[in-house]
Amino acid sequence: MPSDIRHADLVVNRSDHLKAKPRLDPIELKFGAVYTDHMLQVSWKEGPGWTGPSIDPLAPLTLHPCAQVLHYGSGCFEGMKAYKGKDQRLRLFRPDMNMERLSQSAARLTLPEFDKVELLECIKELVRLERDWVPAEEGFSLYIRPALIGTHPFLGLSPTREAMLFVVLSPVGPYFPSGLKPVKLFVETEVVRAYPGGVGDKKVGGNYAPTMLPQLRSAHRGCAQVLYVLQDGLPGGGLVGESGAMNVFFLLQENGMMELITPPLDGLILPGVTRDTVLAIARGFGNIKVSERNLRFDEIEHAAETGRLVEIFGTGTACAVQPITGLLKNDNTEITIPFDSEAAAHWLAKPPGMALAQPGSNEPFSLCGRLTRTLIDFQYGYVESPWSVPI
Ligand code: COI
Repeated sequence: MPSDIRHADLVVNRSDHLKAKPRLDPIELKFGAVYTDHMLQVSWKEGPGWTGPSIDPLAPLTLHPCAQVLHYGSGCFEGMKAYKGKDQRLRLFRPDMNMERLSQSAARLTLPEFDKVELLECIKELVRLERDWVPAEEGFSLYIRPALIGTHPFLGLSPTREAMLFVVLSPVGPYFPSGLKPVKLFVETEVVRAYPGGVGDKKVGGNYAPTMLPQLRSAHRGCAQVLYVLQDGLPGGGLVGESGAMNVFFLLQENGMMELITPPLDGLILPGVTRDTVLAIARGFGNIKVSERNLRFDEIEHAAETGRLVEIFGTGTACAVQPITGLLKNDNTEITIPFDSEAAAHWLAKPPGMALAQPGSNEPFSLCGRLTRTLIDFQYGYVESPWSVPI
């Protein structure tokens, strides 16, 4: 019986060179650029299985130049966060979902299975060790990046016989330096991110590298990211997908009724943890119809033309809830969605738990602001939630 990852086997080797912690400045503290002092690592070999996990000083990996991940992209990863509340307690948010998704991504790449509960216990240990790195300020958190890679030095194409799982930690502020300020997306209709039968719903590295060119092109046109829309003429042409680093939501109004729409989990988009959470919270609000359904880009255009497009926002672990204020098309025409920053600020300033209460009749409307406040309440432990796991 090959051995699995076991928390009881975890060995901790502490670093004696602790680095200075960064200043918590949303502009200065770039997402994913500063790392804590330690990492978790555990390796696997076909036959014996997983070795004992260890927490070690953060250090470069030694890989054979023929390691499969370097050539064939046999690697998957996760993005999760630890939050420190005013009570100084550390909390993870729905970490079981990340473990499940990592396991699904690994299975798709024939990377080894692992015990999800035991791995999570090891990750908790790492976060506890690095607790001084977890920022205690709203909007800041400790980003947790588990990655699982095929390390077998073999240039033939076959399932890996050696692998490594490691976890690094990075204190972060807002993903976009603009913070809870809206960004623009470029409507990408030429590059296809995912297609039926592909791996668009898995968090594999190979899904991300090809998105950098469209992202770079969109940046040249003043956009922070792209919105993937399937090419006209293809089956499913015109359907809205996701945004590479975010799932996307559209709030439309019809005869005084609001509908919040996000594309369904049909294999083409990542099953985001924040996506799932936002769907549940918005359903709980009660006064909004919440739909996971296909959405064509021309439906959005039509809604904008007829004044029925109320809000657009992206969701993701890294970005949380990101308001989107413009969709720029290749022909340089733009759909603009006004962002009411005062209304958003009103909701962000709500006392704990109050964003969940029904809005008063004269309160300004900002679904983005209301969702963000509710998420913060859960994640930082202002409001108890089974999603928030104290560690
Ligand atoms: C996350 O939201 O955790 C992500 O993985 C986005 C990342 C590609 C920056």
